[in-house]
Amino acid sequence: MKDQAEVLRRRIQEMEGEKQAKTIAIASGKGGVGKSNFCINFALQLMRNDKKVLIFDLDIGMGNIDILMGKSPRRTFVDLFREEMSIRDIIELGPESLSYIAGGSGLSHIFELDQTKFAYFQSEFEELTKSFDYILFDMGAGATQDSLHFISSAHEAIVVTTPEPTSLTDGYAMIKHLVHKDKSLPIKILVNRSLNEKNGRNTFDRLSLVVERFLEAEVALLGVLPDDRSVLEAVNKQQPFVIDRPKSKVSRSLEELVRDYLNESHSHESPLSFVDKLKRFVFER
Ligand SMILES: Nc1ncnc2c1ncn2[C@@H]1O[C@H](COP(=O)(O)OP(=O)(O)O)[C@@H](O)[C@H]1O
Ligand SMILES: [Mg+2]
Repeated sequence: MKDQAEVLRRRIQEMEGEKQAKTIAIASGKGGVGKSNFCINFALQLMRNDKKVLIFDLDIGMGNIDILMGKSPRRTFVDLFREEMSIRDIIELGPESLSYIAGGSGLSHIFELDQTKFAYFQSEFEELTKSFDYILFDMGAGATQDSLHFISSAHEAIVVTTPEPTSLTDGYAMIKHLVHKDKSLPIKILVNRSLNEKNGRNTFDRLSLVVERFLEAEVALLGVLPDDRSVLEAVNKQQPFVIDRPKSKVSRSLEELVRDYLNESHSHESPLSFVDKLKRFVFER
């Protein structure tokens, strides 16, 4: 009996080993458009649909995922190399046991790794991709060379914009950089802080039209989230809004967005894994 249980356990582990997390980079042209709030609440809502999710906070210097969750991380990504820790040891737990890694100065760090250290990062990261369904990268605003390498290595990018013209033009600039870097990267648009659904769709249509016309590329609408005071109130309490205000307009819209996302989300068929893509950029420089 004991043997059988052991065999079964091993088989399950093997099956789990075949899983590969989908990596999603959450980016924007302009800062303060709601990336981090979206990232946390999107993660929690995916978890409520039985998905395993990890957030990687990569907004260097401005990283604030921990503040939004009312936590102070003990470890950051940089400790992984300093103390040769396992990547599992630097995962922190937020509300509802949401897993996250505090980036520290992680992003620039990755691009400074030598071959040996990168190989270590690669094997540790590949371990992670086996235990999660989604790995979300909360990026800083704007496009630096390093952040563009990083975003375009992901399976998918979500570009967050508000309906404001300044946010839209900066969002367009971000999309332009990404398209130039890798035309095959799937790009989804989140219109945040919209007055209503129609206004949000209008914003998306305008953006999508210029992307088609001037970049000859396509972007898809991920969804529209309303401008809702519940977000600010939740931020002030250092609580994610889906926990603080589950019945609010923004929480309900997010619920719908995640439902649609899971229904239409097809397997990512990029032949290269995230780290394989990233590796090319790290050593190409
Ligand atoms: N849907 C929304 N409705 C109202 N206010 C929002 C919404 N999304 C974000 N905000 C406001 O914008 C601020 C910045 O959000 P944040 O997620 O930190 O942006 P970013 O990560 O893009 O810099 C929040 O503290 C909140 O006050
Ligand atoms: Mg942020």
